[in-house]
Amino acid sequence: MDRNWIRSTCRDLQLYYNPEVGNKLRMDTSTNALGANPAGMRALRECCDLDLGQYPSTYGDGLREELARVHRLSRDNFVVGNGSDESLDVIMKTLVEPGGTVITAHPAYVLHSFFVSINGGRTVTVDLDERFQLDVERINSTPGSLVLICTPNNPTSNTFRDEDVRAVIEGAARPVVVDEAYAEYAGRSFLPLVERYDNLIVTRTFSKAYGLAGMRVGYLAASRELADALQRVKVPYSLNKVGERVAIAALRDPAFLEESVRVVAEQRPFLEEGLRALGFQVFPSEANYILFRPTVPSDRLTKGLADRGVLVRDFGKVRRLENCVRTTIGTREMNTVLLERMQEVLRECR
Ligand SMILES: Cc1ncc(COP(=O)(O)O)c(C=O)c1O
Repeated sequence: MDRNWIRSTCRDLQLYYNPEVGNKLRMDTSTNALGANPAGMRALRECCDLDLGQYPSTYGDGLREELARVHRLSRDNFVVGNGSDESLDVIMKTLVEPGGTVITAHPAYVLHSFFVSINGGRTVTVDLDERFQLDVERINSTPGSLVLICTPNNPTSNTFRDEDVRAVIEGAARPVVVDEAYAEYAGRSFLPLVERYDNLIVTRTFSKAYGLAGMRVGYLAASRELADALQRVKVPYSLNKVGERVAIAALRDPAFLEESVRVVAEQRPFLEEGLRALGFQVFPSEANYILFRPTVPSDRLTKGLADRGVLVRDFGKVRRLENCVRTTIGTREMNTVLLERMQEVLRECR
């Protein structure tokens, strides 16, 4: 194969994180520690009546109607699809010219720059400050056709100040994407403002607080005009019938969502204290995960935990996150197992 066959922007891509999972306890992907959404699972069991011989709704209209009800907007404000990753992909396809520049924060979600690259764009990163907050002035003065930020930020786990996000939205006449994959945990959202700011796009997911990561359902919200432009680019039928029905059921029964958010709020101080008691540096979290810096090499800790059946995510080689690790906030049982296994690894490292 000639490497020049590959588009230059796609030549140096790495394969995405793909660990040996087996029976290990997953605390590496910031999914819902309470497991799968019960209303979604009930709806799934009733999916046998679906006519799989026919296509789903072209644009997932049933789910868009339900989102409109929940968020008090119009269904025309929403584009739904296969995970919020698809939303990010559609945004880049629609709004970034070949060779165009997208401004992202650093550190941020690994796939942000991926979606820029695979769509022929170029990422320019603006470092977060020492408290992992936005450098608004630099973002607003950096040339580029689109800004993409994520709050709560992954993997740093903090939220950005509301006034800073607003200043970025208002700072330049270009689209600003706010990735809110974890917004339910922070209890704050820019989604209600999509009709106020015609350059604002908010992406959301059913993979985290809704406990439906395996179903792959996500969406974006934007002004009707912008959502319409994005809808035209999205692959038709990308949300399948099962995913649509399960997501609608999850929206209609918010009890699990509320319990999920409550458990994270309750367990966060327990896990933070446990990590600090081991001597680790713990960064402030408003999400369902915590970023911390252990006292031993992050790759040794991550490997030692994996050998003991617990997966966490090593970010130790990322600039600004030197020797840092991210863990999901689990249930009390999961967090206790995690902390015990960490103690074992630390003893082994001595
Ligand atoms: C910040 C952020 N955005 C988007 C996603 C993708 O979510 P989805 O499962 O909806 O594709 C993730 C998943 O981890 C994430 O952390």
